[in-house]
Amino acid sequence: MKDRFGREHTYLRISVIDRCNLRCHYCMPLHAKFFDPKEVLSFDEIVTVVQVATELGIRSVRITGGEPLVRPNLPELIYRLKTECALEEISCTTNGMLLERFAKDLKDAGLDRINVSVDTLRPDRFRKITRFGSLETVLHGLRRAVAVGLTPLKINAVILKGFNDDEIEDLLKLTLTENVTVRFLELMPIGEALSLNGLGGYLNLTKVRLWLTERYGLVPAEEKGHGPARYWKVPGAPGRVGFITPISDKYCATCSRLRLTANGEIRPCLAYDVHVNLRDAIRRRDREAIAAGIMKALAIKPAGHHWDAGQITQTVMSSLGG
Ligand code: 5AD
Ligand code: SF4
Repeated sequence: MKDRFGREHTYLRISVIDRCNLRCHYCMPLHAKFFDPKEVLSFDEIVTVVQVATELGIRSVRITGGEPLVRPNLPELIYRLKTECALEEISCTTNGMLLERFAKDLKDAGLDRINVSVDTLRPDRFRKITRFGSLETVLHGLRRAVAVGLTPLKINAVILKGFNDDEIEDLLKLTLTENVTVRFLELMPIGEALSLNGLGGYLNLTKVRLWLTERYGLVPAEEKGHGPARYWKVPGAPGRVGFITPISDKYCATCSRLRLTANGEIRPCLAYDVHVNLRDAIRRRDREAIAAGIMKALAIKPAGHHWDAGQITQTVMSSLGG
């Protein structure tokens, strides 16, 4: 499935709920507005969309939110995707707060891998950036995830200048002892991230990669993934380090992803409000109309963001699943 710029699309991010048990400052306002529960797709509806999407060329999906583990019975959806859709891989991005409780059920249901957001290794900072989070709870979840085989584990850290940029080396050092991939993310100018009020701001992570390379001798590393991250490792280390640099090293030209929101929209690009609302077609289980909608979303997919030229995006990140 190619868009008008010739980009092949094989990867679908599925937001299963827009709610979250945390309120990371760069992502969600404290008093967020949520979709009417009646608008949120049922598991049956999600499975229908994914079946159509796989017929069009989607090979892997990532389950996102809000916080996907807040969605009741998520392992049941994983099991249905695994058994009823022709997918090569199912992964999930979570904040880890409920991971200790659900890791085993998710693995048993057929989940392959997880990414967990851990922006800081300091409990006080963790609470500050997430507003309600507990680093200790998340670390317990990570241990459980590794124990049940949701591996290789990826850790996502959004780096904010003046907030956690002094922890970059501490985060990198996790890769020296663990078989883990630590990924540093540049802050994207979306929604809440536009008004961080002194909590920190954008940092150019391509420059960070260059000084880490000088200091640690990073060499390119192989890593399974569908996304924009580029991977490196400290020679001899068991883990890997990734950089997601939408602004300092733009990767739109190789974008292979589409997004399905919890309320049934296909969104071809995070940076723009362009979307196709498929909810009625999905509710009617009209597979032809769903396929046509997905193709339309591809046809209107922009070439890329202009964040590097001052564009800002006024959406709430949590409703798009990152
Ligand atoms: N910029 C970069 N990353 C973000 N995330 C949420 N909002 C932003 C933003 N404005 C991250 C989360 C999570 C992933 C889904 O997206 O921290 O790791
Ligand atoms: Fe929730 Fe993730 Fe957004 Fe934080 S980044 S508020 S954990 S959806």
